[in-house]
Amino acid sequence: MEVVSNGEVIAVYRHANVLYAIDGVCMHQGGPLARGRLADGTVTCPWHGWQYELATGNHAPTCKPMLKTYKIQESDGVIEIDLPI
Ligand code: FES
Repeated sequence: MEVVSNGEVIAVYRHANVLYAIDGVCMHQGGPLARGRLADGTVTCPWHGWQYELATGNHAPTCKPMLKTYKIQESDGVIEIDLPI
């Protein structure tokens, strides 16, 4: 799913029963990463296929840091994301 808070777009995923929250806008040309395909701990942008590691936000092929990640947790069915103030 995509969450927008204070103008920041964040993509939230549950992959292999682990929650992740990363920047939701692709660094290539702004594709919507919340609509990307998940596999092997990565998300693939739906527009041109750039891939990012869910745990780090790194560009998967090069390991170059690209996207911010956010701390996310679930308690009693409520998902909370730590956002910068
Ligand atoms: S906009 Fe994401 S790969 Fe091009």
